[in-house]
Amino acid sequence: MATLSFQSVGKRFGDGTLALSRVDLDVKDGEFLVLVGPSGCGKSTLLRSAAGLETLTEGRIAIGGRDVTDLGPGDRDIAMVFQNYALYPHMDVYENMAFGLGQRKIPKDIIRQKVEQAARTLDLMPYIHKKPGTLSGGQRQRVAMGRAIVRDPQCFLMDEPLSNLDAKLRVQMRAELKLLNARLGVTTLYVTHDQVEAMTMGDRVAVLRPVSDESQSNLQQCAAPRELYEKPVNLFVAGFIGSPAMNFITVRPVRKGKTLRCTIAGTDMTLPLTPQQAAARPFLDQWIDRDLILGVRPEAFLYPNPTSGGLRSEVLITEMTGADAYVFFELRGTASNRITARIDPRHLPERGAALEIGVDMERVHFFDPGSGLALRG
Ligand SMILES: Nc1ncnc2c1ncn2[C@@H]1O[C@H](COP(=O)(O)OP(=O)(O)OP(=O)(O)O)[C@@H](O)[C@H]1O
Ligand SMILES: [Mg+2]
Repeated sequence: MATLSFQSVGKRFGDGTLALSRVDLDVKDGEFLVLVGPSGCGKSTLLRSAAGLETLTEGRIAIGGRDVTDLGPGDRDIAMVFQNYALYPHMDVYENMAFGLGQRKIPKDIIRQKVEQAARTLDLMPYIHKKPGTLSGGQRQRVAMGRAIVRDPQCFLMDEPLSNLDAKLRVQMRAELKLLNARLGVTTLYVTHDQVEAMTMGDRVAVLRPVSDESQSNLQQCAAPRELYEKPVNLFVAGFIGSPAMNFITVRPVRKGKTLRCTIAGTDMTLPLTPQQAAARPFLDQWIDRDLILGVRPEAFLYPNPTSGGLRSEVLITEMTGADAYVFFELRGTASNRITARIDPRHLPERGAALEIGVDMERVHFFDPGSGLALRG
């Protein structure tokens, strides 16, 4: 077991592509840390750098306190599981798992012990003499995991290992992987572009985004799932984490008081401030007559509206999922301000009906439209 630490890591490829810049990240001993972000944000490059498959152009990487920046993949004591886990089709489960150990000239009885132990952990004993072609997707995925486990690495590196599985199996394997991590306690860095997977699996989640120059960092925020959801540091993280996504409403506070009077798309609206927000007046006062972005998660709307203020619109469409219902509406005069609100299905309004919907001001976020940074009162 070991920590995995990235220190000011940067990577520019030969063709000039800047994939990574200023990445500082510590995966703690035994932690399951998930890297998430849109395609091209550098997740695989960061993971491959840890594995020794890419050479850094900036910074250092340490595993268990040992600087491994200049070591080859074979000397880093890590095991990697890829999306295409490519098992050897002519070998059975046992041979697939034992193969890497055999290469390292480990005695046969030790190999047998390790493989059987991993196979038991992964529930693979019933299939131990089957060929990959006769296994289900989930079983094959477990064999790939087994191949990594038998090596007793200090660190697991996994790049979208579940993305080839169907939706149901993926959910099942997520839980199994988490359980396995808890049982083995091996430090794990896990890549996915699926924010739900990231939130459900990670002890902590690191959100990355592409960079355009060296002054920026790919790493936007690294925190426990709940903190990421409740306290996103900027518009990027706020919009990326959560489904349906957070609504961003451009507002212009116009008057002071215990309410946030604001114009939204030219219409006057009133939102009641929480006592805390009203007390943080200097914070809001500086935004009077300037555009401010209000971030409202779909579940932070109140309908029917128990408050004295709120947003007025018209129901565009509704969606019923059973447990939840969603109302979609636009704020007058803007096409971009398409809003999604989650409401109690028992109070689903009619399509085309006039809508007055409250906002739970305890749960809103404020963002500076210039920097995109979250503002805390
Ligand atoms: N060998 C390479 N040469 C040049 N550019 C590369 C190379 N490998 C990756 N890149 C670029 O580096 C950036 C980061 O790529 P990377 O594969 O790390 O993204 P990712 O976050 O894993 O994306 P995805 O979710 O699509 O897998 C991208 O712009 C990509 O085009
Ligand atoms: Mg990738």
